[in-house]
Amino acid sequence: MKETAWKSPSNIALIKYWGKYDVQIPANPSLSFTLSSAATTTRLKYAQGKGVIKVLLNGQETPTFIPKIQLFLERTRALFPFTNQMDFEIHTSNSFPHSSGIASSASGMSALALCMMNIKKELGLDIEDFFREASIAARLGSGSGSRSVYGPLAAWGKHSEIEGSHDDFAVPFTDVSDVFKTFQDTILIIDKGEKTVSSSLGHSLMKNHPYASKRFAQAHENQSRLLTAMLDTDLKVFGEIVESEALTLHAMMMTSKPYFILMKPNTLEVINRIWSFREATNHPIYFTLDAGANVHILYPESHKELIMRFIDSELRTFCKDSSYLCDQVGLGPTPL
Ligand code: DP6
Repeated sequence: MKETAWKSPSNIALIKYWGKYDVQIPANPSLSFTLSSAATTTRLKYAQGKGVIKVLLNGQETPTFIPKIQLFLERTRALFPFTNQMDFEIHTSNSFPHSSGIASSASGMSALALCMMNIKKELGLDIEDFFREASIAARLGSGSGSRSVYGPLAAWGKHSEIEGSHDDFAVPFTDVSDVFKTFQDTILIIDKGEKTVSSSLGHSLMKNHPYASKRFAQAHENQSRLLTAMLDTDLKVFGEIVESEALTLHAMMMTSKPYFILMKPNTLEVINRIWSFREATNHPIYFTLDAGANVHILYPESHKELIMRFIDSELRTFCKDSSYLCDQVGLGPTPL
């Protein structure tokens, strides 16, 4: 078998993608920090064959991943017409533990999409733009995966103020002041359990949601305001928008049918402590959340020492097994 490999990072959305149309078209634009340490490494082995797929996570055969990969291959057939005449062995591993509650779909699907692009190149097939096609393919695997293809920030979904932005793929975004290119993200592991709401179910809850249209319009407005704040180094406005986006995402889940609460008591405890600390010290420390209980703490690199001291002394006790992951904005995937 031949082999190709990529390491692709996870990303954390500042403006949240929540709600989609077929096939994998976002209901609103989103913008994310590409991460650095949290990443998936995928080695794709391939040979002429009949479409037999084997997936190994950390060296262990994991057949439960196969349906998702098969769906990815079906959806990307136009981009990768060779996949049904090949057998694949997908060796994948994450830099973060599976039990940390950190989603691996964005990093995993983008790493796989990039490996497929390498095969496409190797076969001499026409490629107009390598990373753009990788982003389209990653999106078809997992919407947020479209953004993992680029660093330091990536924007997915048509937005009036981002030139070239598109619903089919993400574009790299660099129009921010330097402070945001080295921003820190300390991920507090509040709950290690599997997600109680799958992202497909979560997105589908926006279909008949009473607040959907207002929310989608709000994402456009929030993105506009965030772009200005990030260009002007307005950390206060940055934090206001990012925290509001996180709480809105959870508010959408709390007001859908069926409804969910994905925050845990310790999520709220941590948020309140961040707010008190910020009020008392004026330090630029903000939070965001994914569709889960973990808290991403965002702050400038210049405040790292000070804020890590606060996290260790006041917040760590609310983490499952006292665990957190230190990450920061990164530059995107690397070929191996
Ligand atoms: C809350 O990209 O995981 O993290 O397209 O169904 O794979 P699928 O969904 P996914 O949704 C991510 C939702 C989010 C917000 C975001 O990353 O923008």
